[in-house]
Amino acid sequence: MKKIVIFASGNGTNAQRIIEFFQDRTDAQVVQVLSNNPRAKVLERATQLETSAISFNREALYRQEDVLNILKATGPDVIILAGFLWLFPEKIISAFPDKVLNIHPSLLPEFGGKGMYGKHVHEAVYAFAKAQHQKNPEKKVYTGITIHKVTPEYDKGGFLFQQRVEVDKDDTPKSIAEKIHLLEYEHFPKVIAKFLS
Ligand code: GAR
Repeated sequence: MKKIVIFASGNGTNAQRIIEFFQDRTDAQVVQVLSNNPRAKVLERATQLETSAISFNREALYRQEDVLNILKATGPDVIILAGFLWLFPEKIISAFPDKVLNIHPSLLPEFGGKGMYGKHVHEAVYAFAKAQHQKNPEKKVYTGITIHKVTPEYDKGGFLFQQRVEVDKDDTPKSIAEKIHLLEYEHFPKVIAKFLS
């Protein structure tokens, strides 16, 4: 049985879908969810699905070895960043080479980098699409999702998967976020399963 560990900072709807997807499978399971926010909804979601849920602070992640030691004890086959908003530390990436994957809610390299997460991405995509549609109402504008390997820089590692979706003229940042979440729920668990096989 392969082991999946998830890092998430907030709501954790992706984490929930991934836990559920693997719950009845015999090839892999989510064994642990880690969050930098002790009040994050993702910890509640994990606990409800009988998955170990742990929170940590900056000290434990960056200066001390606490989080690294938890991971070494668990021995994950893949580490998934599903809405994890802190920079992932180099020492963990090098302890688990090529085993850390992130999902980003745009078609990287567009709308990536520091500060580009969640609603900030959707607002930037919305503004870009609006400007494009004003210039040329016939023009199709796309956004999408990217699943990529994690390196010590934000949103820079090699891509495993991208899927696009059209931004319509009447879309809002909220409706773009909804489209993106649907794509994430559909594809992220499957991409993880394929990665592990
Ligand atoms: C997801 O849309 C994910 O792509 C994004 O945060 C959201 C988390 O939602 N990640 C980033 O923006 C990383 N730069 P969730 O907590 O409901 O799964």
